[in-house]
Amino acid sequence: MGLRRNVTTGLSQVMMKERLTRMNYIKGKETLSELATTYPFIVDILNQYHLDYTFKGGITLKDAVERAGLSYENVTADINLAIDEYIVTKPEVIYWENEPIDKIIDHIEKKHHRFMEKTIEEIRSLFDSLELTPELESLEKIFDELQEEILSHQRQEEMELFPLLKEYSGNRSAEIRHKCVDYMERAMDEHDRTGQVLKDINRMTDHFMQPVDATAELKELYARMDALEKDTFLHIHMENSILFKMI
Ligand SMILES: [Fe+2]
Ligand SMILES: [Fe+2]
Repeated sequence: MGLRRNVTTGLSQVMMKERLTRMNYIKGKETLSELATTYPFIVDILNQYHLDYTFKGGITLKDAVERAGLSYENVTADINLAIDEYIVTKPEVIYWENEPIDKIIDHIEKKHHRFMEKTIEEIRSLFDSLELTPELESLEKIFDELQEEILSHQRQEEMELFPLLKEYSGNRSAEIRHKCVDYMERAMDEHDRTGQVLKDINRMTDHFMQPVDATAELKELYARMDALEKDTFLHIHMENSILFKMI
């Protein structure tokens, strides 16, 4: 984000960030999940630093940064800069925690569920077109597991859980809420399993680092898997930390 400016001015990255950042918005005690909800436009920064705001979202930024061995100054400088830029440029950002349940669900289905189906299909056909090494065979096996679990999970959400949540938003009865909680607990367990498989894929691909001699298809496979991982982080964050918390 600040890197391009850095290249053009020759100033060190940290100096540049300090100069551009007027305010310190971050206290360090915010959890990763709270940060992703309050400042939805910083999730790319959290992803860049591999700070897991979805499955380990309950950890404070300060603790997460320390555990990852990162520089707290650098991470907060990036976040502060992004918030400054947001204040100046005022891009359109939807704060989902302020939106009605129906609208959040429609967004999840249209954006995340459809993206997942499309990307799974693309990855599937890339696997079919590649000559598989033993490493790629293992990756395909674990991807098959992910694909099966996610697609059935999404179907259940669309056919059972989401209609129930919509019903609850129109009729806040204790009985419907009880049913919602049961379904949500099951969904969160499935999310955790998905998170575990994504972690395995990330480890196997070394953060989707493409081998130097990778073919165009292999590069595309890694890029699609990377995109699928990032979108799933946001998708599950929206469900676990925004939508389900409204019930
Ligand atoms: Fe979903
Ligand atoms: Fe889900």
